[in-house]
Amino acid sequence: MSAQIIGGYFSSHVPGIGGAIARGDQDKPYWKPFFDGYPPVRAWLSQTRPDVAIVFYNDHGLNFFLDAMPTFAVGAAASYPNEDEGWGLPVYKTFQGDPGLSWHIIEELVGSGFDITMCQKMKVDHALSIPFELAYPDADAWPVKIVPVAINTVQYPLPSPQRCYDLGRAVNRALQSWQDDTRVVVIGSGGLSHQLDGARAGFINADYDRFCLDHLANDPQALLRHSTEEVAAIAGTQGVEIVNWIAARGALGDGAQAEVTRNYHIPISNTAAATLVLTPA
Ligand code: DHB
Ligand code: FE
Repeated sequence: MSAQIIGGYFSSHVPGIGGAIARGDQDKPYWKPFFDGYPPVRAWLSQTRPDVAIVFYNDHGLNFFLDAMPTFAVGAAASYPNEDEGWGLPVYKTFQGDPGLSWHIIEELVGSGFDITMCQKMKVDHALSIPFELAYPDADAWPVKIVPVAINTVQYPLPSPQRCYDLGRAVNRALQSWQDDTRVVVIGSGGLSHQLDGARAGFINADYDRFCLDHLANDPQALLRHSTEEVAAIAGTQGVEIVNWIAARGALGDGAQAEVTRNYHIPISNTAAATLVLTPA
């Protein structure tokens, strides 16, 4: 037996998206080109019907803060609440966990030399909730359970793209040895290029974003050439959130990937907003 990986869903997670959803602004000129990227994602999810999502994201100060920042943290809780993180957003629905699958992934990761932090209590922030709000806008309860994998993109020093890809590949090995045929979607949250503060606030690099979107599916090694510091220089200090996409791509395994849908829109707030779905070719 092994888990069935139905594919990967990649999305930006700008907090303002939550405000736009709460106000019903999806069809306003500013938001429409962004929200238009999501009906194909919803159609794909309703066709492929995943049971569990492995979510690679970065916490922005809700569950972890600068005083104690794990490089990699994996949730092993039965549920994951959201709380007000200070953006004035609605509090998002609680997620249900899959502790059995979480512990199996944790065992594989530690066995492979990833000394991760394991969290039996964990709050999840907008980076985890926004992709779900976009994918399941009408759900009363989230239709999938989650295994959250938080990657530090906030406090120097950051893990390298190569290390994040290898983390994802270790998660893939755990899925290959899982005890049943649970249907899994892998999610990468964040990016693409953006910088929120400092002299370069508002910085976007569409050429680098295009390069990432073009290579992630079938040449992810191309994204591993840069160090995280180089990515910050090329894509902005918060552009390093691309490592969440890179880890999620690793979790899809080594097989070829086909692109189901892609959207790219500049800007949403300070961010080059992108949406991508990959499925095993
Ligand atoms: C913005 C983008 C982010 O990734 C984030 O976590 C917070 C804010 C923005 O563009 O406003
Ligand atoms: Fe972010």
